[in-house]
Amino acid sequence: LSTVEVDVSSLAPGSSLVVKWRGKPVVVRNRTPEEMKSGEDVKLSDLKDPLARNANLPSDAPATDANRSTPGKEAWMVMVQVCTHLGCIPLGQEGEFGGWFCPCHGSVYDTAGRIRHGPAPENMEIPVFKFISDTKILIG
Ligand code: FES
Repeated sequence: LSTVEVDVSSLAPGSSLVVKWRGKPVVVRNRTPEEMKSGEDVKLSDLKDPLARNANLPSDAPATDANRSTPGKEAWMVMVQVCTHLGCIPLGQEGEFGGWFCPCHGSVYDTAGRIRHGPAPENMEIPVFKFISDTKILIG
């Protein structure tokens, strides 16, 4: 399917689900206030990849925490859960920053899915998506 509708009504803060979109796993995470703060507190100069990699924004948009989410729904991460090194599936809420950790070669991503350490060159990809109601997301 080129688009997938996801019901997120069961996702309390701190929980996630994964759906398949165009053959790839896409994680939908309702971040906790602490996870958001941890993402917002990061200086852009500390990021390995300064670009948002968000298909909903211009390609040169900076990788701020807000630019990794969507306006008005900043708690929510919708992200292709594929490591940008060699394509393994990172584990959620693991690693030094409490974001994602790729067990293949040790790439560490933060709570906004931005690469912080390890061999992966880019932040994980944010697909085209939008909220079509308070509890439904359309991906693609
Ligand atoms: Fe993730 Fe290599 S595939 S670190």
